[in-house]
Amino acid sequence: NITACIFDLDGVLVDTAGYHYQAWRVMANDLGFDFTELQNEKLKGVSRIDSLKLILGWGNVTKSEEEMLFLAQKKNDDYLKMIEQMTPENLLPGASDLLKYLKANSYKVALGSASKNAKLILDKTGVLPLFDAIVDGNIVTSSKPDPQVFLKAAELLNEQPENCVVFEDAEAGVEAALRGKMHVIGIGDKEILGDADFVVKSLEEIEYNN
Ligand code: BG6
Ligand code: MG
Repeated sequence: NITACIFDLDGVLVDTAGYHYQAWRVMANDLGFDFTELQNEKLKGVSRIDSLKLILGWGNVTKSEEEMLFLAQKKNDDYLKMIEQMTPENLLPGASDLLKYLKANSYKVALGSASKNAKLILDKTGVLPLFDAIVDGNIVTSSKPDPQVFLKAAELLNEQPENCVVFEDAEAGVEAALRGKMHVIGIGDKEILGDADFVVKSLEEIEYNN
């Protein structure tokens, strides 16, 4: 009996994955290397600092803690410039309708994201008021595939994990939901998200009455 829905942000509600990729590539290119879209898959759902460490590893680059903080800050400044222009038009197909439907039908709705920019993006795209709880990168201490982000969301909603369904586009996020004993719908590619209960290409494909 599903009573609550927990949404990942990047790649599920908004198409920011491309912006993250672009901003990280600028940094990598400055450091003299590049990385592929397939490698980028591994960054989905992963925190900013852990993403940076993975990318530096791919380029065989070693940096001090201080230099890493600087690089992460610079990447985020570039990323913020990209998301500054976001409006409700930037919500992915089906996102707005599904969120409104859930609200109108008394489902509880939470965000479960690794991003520290989550609230800003929800605000810019006009859907912030549709959320009952927000768990983001400013709160979580263990990244997906650790289930902490989703368990925290369920706790804030006062719901049992088995009554929650998670919407995720990242391999690490699908695993986090399963480890948290929740239902999970993969958004994207079946090849990558095969462990999810089922996979759809976009939220538009989710069927509900009304
Ligand atoms: C996740 C993205 O939602 O948030 C990752 O999938 C990103 O790619 C992570 O690294 C952290 O985002 P931010 O906005 O805090 O840098
Ligand atoms: Mg995502």
